[in-house]
Amino acid sequence: MNRGKRVGLSVAGVLVGLTAWAFVAERGVVRAQDAAALGFAPVMPLHSLMIEQDLHFENIRHWIRTSDDPERFVKLRHEALALAEMGNINGFHAKAADHADYRQWAAELKTLGMALAGHAEKQDLDAAKESAKTINATCKACHEKYQ
Ligand code: HEC
Repeated sequence: MNRGKRVGLSVAGVLVGLTAWAFVAERGVVRAQDAAALGFAPVMPLHSLMIEQDLHFENIRHWIRTSDDPERFVKLRHEALALAEMGNINGFHAKAADHADYRQWAAELKTLGMALAGHAEKQDLDAAKESAKTINATCKACHEKYQ
């Protein structure tokens, strides 16, 4: 291949890459494999991440119990999404790279947090309570092996 063609192809490659990035950035969602390809790495030490998860889970339990705040379900949804994001980030920590079960539990926390956010949006308290129980079991499962 001549030099002109090679340069043309690299420029095309960069353009395709930028378009793909603009697409995911616009939707505000970057899939795990894209994030890894973009060199994503958590900046929070694992210990701080866990303190943060604990706070969000505590707030989730609070908003499940507290019924007299008109913003209750909005706040519950935000807390659930924040916890889901922590699970998402945890999937990139050092332990996650080496252990499939660790990645699995971190991913579970993300999925369960997102499901809980959906229940909050629908103001379905019973489903929210069930999600909180399953989340608690996921925290425990990972801690039994890795904490
Ligand atoms: C995928 C694995 C995993 C999941 C899921 C997980 N943790 Fe952890 N957690 C850890 C590890 C590993 C540690 C020990 C880290 C350290 O202290 O450096 C830890 C430690 C902790 C600590 C102790 C921090 C301290 O002060 O020593 C708390 C609190 C905590 N996790 C809360 C939670 C909560 C709440 C959840 C669920 C909502 C959760 N974790 C889910 C892996 C996990």
